[in-house]
Amino acid sequence: MQKASIVGTGSCLPDRVLSNRDLELMVETSDEWITSRTGIHTRRIAGKGEQNFQLASKAAKSALESAGVSAADLDFILVATMSPHMIMPSCACFVQAEIGADKAFAFDINAACSGFLFALDLAAKYIASTPEMKILVIGSETLSARVNWQDRNTCILFGDGAGACVLESSDNGGILDSILHSDGKLWNLLYMDSPASKNPELLDPERKGCFIQMSGRDVFKYAVRAMEDVVVQLLERQNISINDIDLLIPHQANVRILGKLMERLGVAQEKVFINVNKYGNTSAASVPIALDEASREGRLQKGDLVLFCSFGGGFTWGSMLLRW
Ligand code: ACO
Repeated sequence: MQKASIVGTGSCLPDRVLSNRDLELMVETSDEWITSRTGIHTRRIAGKGEQNFQLASKAAKSALESAGVSAADLDFILVATMSPHMIMPSCACFVQAEIGADKAFAFDINAACSGFLFALDLAAKYIASTPEMKILVIGSETLSARVNWQDRNTCILFGDGAGACVLESSDNGGILDSILHSDGKLWNLLYMDSPASKNPELLDPERKGCFIQMSGRDVFKYAVRAMEDVVVQLLERQNISINDIDLLIPHQANVRILGKLMERLGVAQEKVFINVNKYGNTSAASVPIALDEASREGRLQKGDLVLFCSFGGGFTWGSMLLRW
């Protein structure tokens, strides 16, 4: 069966840097608290001309350039996001227009922080059934528009950005396997309401506003255990060990979650790509931004075994193995 191969990557981060010191002026917090609990030092915050679709389009252009693929040749654009600047049309349709991918069909998916992995998995299945397809997969978020800047529990964690990759079929290498999970029963540990309903019958007095709400300690516990379990499941199914992996690119939630994950998996720090210290948690954008940086920094050699894992609201989680 034809496998889907990542033939180009790109990313785009907003210009504005928000430091922990800046946050000290906004909520009752400290650089020391944020650094020791999360490992995050700075995050990027979108400004004028940096709507979600505009960051996504810049990441897309960079990925197309690195792949040597023209936007006009794309068949499908899939954007993973939970913070589009409009609910309808999709972010993917805005990207299609912005980059001039006239022949592509386009839509968004939402699997929160796991969105990019879920999107890649879907795209790989399109390629398995229609190998001539060229697909652009993007993870893009402007969560600065969706956090409560008075809530110190959440506003310190998140950042904006976009990452993209171009997929084509390949006879050797590419995406080898993936495992995805969801557990909707745990939705209320991490969620974001919709804008208030215009239908009075559907107004829910329990809902407190259209921004991220989180039970941090529970999320921490589930995130570590779920990512560990799904990585072990995938390694066992592939009959390989964590030592066979050349680079682990996990969802960049925070350094403590990643530290615990590395400890439980028994993986050496130099085999794990971490940039959450610079960008905070960019949700669906975190894995593709990290992938693009890893690739541009020369951390990936042809033939390397790369492992992704992620966890997010829903809950949703998964892992994916690919040959670079
Ligand atoms: N600055 C200072 N104090 C704070 C802050 C802040 N920004 N935020 C919370 N506190 C306070 C709390 O109010 C609490 O005070 P209290 O004891 O007087 O009530 C105290 O600090 C300790 O709070 P805890 O919740 O116990 O802190 P904890 O050690 O659990 O760290 C954190 C909190 C960083 C949120 C941690 O639980 C965590 O990392 N959770 C995972 C969250 C996450 O990554 N979410 C992203 C989405 S899901 C994903 O991407 C995987």
